[in-house]
Amino acid sequence: MPPILDVRDLHVHFHTLDGVVNAVNGVSFTLEEGETLAIVGESGSGKSVTVMSLLGLIPVPPGKVTGGSALYYGANGERDLLKMSELELKYLRGEAVKPDEEFTEMDLLQMSREELRNIRGGQIGFVFQDPISSLNPILPIGEQVSEILTRHKGLPKEEALERAIRLLGHVGIPDPELRVKNYPFEFSGGMRQRVVIAIAIACTPKIVIADEPTTALDVTVQAQIVDLFKQLRQDLDVSIIWITHDLGVVAGIADRVLVMYGGRPVEVALVDDLYDNPRHPYTTGLLCALPRLDSVASDRLECIPGAPPDMLQPLVHCPFAWRCDYAFERCWEKIPPLISVGEKHKVACFYDLEKAGPRDV
Ligand SMILES: Nc1ncnc2c1ncn2[C@@H]1O[C@H](COP(=O)(O)OP(=O)(O)OP(=O)(O)O)[C@@H](O)[C@H]1O
Ligand SMILES: [Mg+2]
Repeated sequence: MPPILDVRDLHVHFHTLDGVVNAVNGVSFTLEEGETLAIVGESGSGKSVTVMSLLGLIPVPPGKVTGGSALYYGANGERDLLKMSELELKYLRGEAVKPDEEFTEMDLLQMSREELRNIRGGQIGFVFQDPISSLNPILPIGEQVSEILTRHKGLPKEEALERAIRLLGHVGIPDPELRVKNYPFEFSGGMRQRVVIAIAIACTPKIVIADEPTTALDVTVQAQIVDLFKQLRQDLDVSIIWITHDLGVVAGIADRVLVMYGGRPVEVALVDDLYDNPRHPYTTGLLCALPRLDSVASDRLECIPGAPPDMLQPLVHCPFAWRCDYAFERCWEKIPPLISVGEKHKVACFYDLEKAGPRDV
């Protein structure tokens, strides 16, 4: 079974007045069918740009995808909408397709805007950090959810509204048959995020990408949204990319974790393996920075001293070398490749933390 998404060597740059921002510098990862992959890293590490560039959501210019591929295995291979088979159109409209029907790859980076728009609405749902900017302030909630069903599933208006009410109930909106008439400003932040989630799952997508979906919410509501995602994972057969800067949230929700630094993956592992056996000094720093009952807040800042890399500088060596206690000559000479160090465990580091010495690569 191929992964549903296979991103290889993705590069994304922004041309700004200050120079070229090297936002994403060779990101590769896979997303397996039904799995939840967390992408973790501090602010500016390239998490959002990575996923947004896959679906044509970065501003061009100044942004540009300068290399790589993103094979999406949920649709048939033709790219011209007018020449697509019934099966491919079914995929694009987000309709259920029997598992034994043919799966072929489609390179997201090569698609036209029109094709991307269809996939975005139907097969790949997005949940952004700020629910207010994802919703239309002058359209009732019900219409916003049902609109996507009429557009992508071709449902008649009444049926779409009925389905919207069921969906809103499913994501935990009380009295959805009454609340569909409300406008976004009449909802709390947490309720708005539930609406955005309802829109993202409306067409039974193959992939849901959630970009820091809880950061704009207070702690109790954050926990509720995390619980809702866990429930959706069980109810729907969906693969999830969950982006966060907080490794603490990840344990409860992800199967695997991709740690990013300076626009590159530095470690990827099954979640328990990452917690028990981190192989990259940056990951150990992130884990050390997690709040613990026996530590005081001021301790945490000591875990990863120093500042994130300057993304205006082209990457010629390990981006973490400046802040790394273990850096030696090789780390300043070239970029460490992502190599396998165990089952489903990869790391991009020239230093072997286990052996306490340089790694043979
Ligand atoms: N429109 C833009 N123009 C110029 N630079 C940009 C633009 N969008 C993003 N960048 C730069 O790309 C880099 C990666 O940004 P990105 O938003 O992916 O970070 P992130 O990991 O999602 O961070 P955060 O946790 O703060 O959301 C940053 O250096 C950022 O300044
Ligand atoms: Mg971001």
